[in-house]
Amino acid sequence: MNTICLMNNKGGVGKTTTTINVAYCLSKKAKVLIIDCDSQSNLSNSFGITEPSISVYDLFKRKSVKPINVRKNLDIIPSTGDFAGADLIIQNEFARELILKKQLNEFRELYDYVFIDCPPSLNLVTINALSASDYVIIPVEASAFSMSGVSSMIEFTTSIKEMINPDINILGLLITKYDKRLKLATKILKQIEEKGWERAFFNTKIRINTTIAASQDEQKPILEYDSKSHGAIDYVSLTKEIINRVKNGL
Ligand SMILES: Nc1ncnc2c1ncn2[C@@H]1O[C@H](COP(=O)(O)OP(=O)(O)OP(=O)(O)O)[C@@H](O)[C@H]1O
Ligand SMILES: [Mg+2]
Repeated sequence: MNTICLMNNKGGVGKTTTTINVAYCLSKKAKVLIIDCDSQSNLSNSFGITEPSISVYDLFKRKSVKPINVRKNLDIIPSTGDFAGADLIIQNEFARELILKKQLNEFRELYDYVFIDCPPSLNLVTINALSASDYVIIPVEASAFSMSGVSSMIEFTTSIKEMINPDINILGLLITKYDKRLKLATKILKQIEEKGWERAFFNTKIRINTTIAASQDEQKPILEYDSKSHGAIDYVSLTKEIINRVKNGL
């Protein structure tokens, strides 16, 4: 079981979109579980789940949950609005950073990949997600790219690695909502080079593509909704890179 979380405390950068679409592409070849750790429940709603019988909150309450099947080889543990206050409640728990890691043990033999969609904040739920993961993918929106934003996500991951989860590595930084006409500023590219970060970026960039939003309105992954769209082509390409990076090490 490879566990991968999608993390960035900036909202709207494509964490949920990437979770939906990479998980769906992977489910063609592997058993995949997705976990919605955001009380906004965008991931759950994207699969038409609004009033689930089990939720991620049950998982954090250390209950045993049976994930909901949404497609062949693709299961979800959805979120609900009441999960909003969860991080305050688990503050007082014993080993509060490791609740999710412990809970995922029971799925170890059942899935090849687990994806955890984080909320747009660095709260205790996000710390649990990073502590339970082998890899993190950090999506960054092309038009709002900031070195300090990316640096702080890398530093946050590094401190989790040093203090809680030595097994975690950054699988890649992912440029999303990319528009070829708006080249990443030369200054930024130079800074990326200076920091030696080029290899950290996936070669695939997710282009801006209105079909992606339309597919979510229809509660379908992009590959199912329009397999010829740029969005589908980009997410298939990203999925191949993810498989290779996981298989060959970083
Ligand atoms: N490549 C893309 N092209 C066009 N629209 C996109 C693309 N990727 C994501 N979107 C749209 O941008 C919005 C934000 O994306 P998404 O929900 O995946 O971000 P997020 O990082 O999960 O946000 P939050 O932090 O609020 O959970 C959504 O409406 C989604 O449909
Ligand atoms: Mg989201």
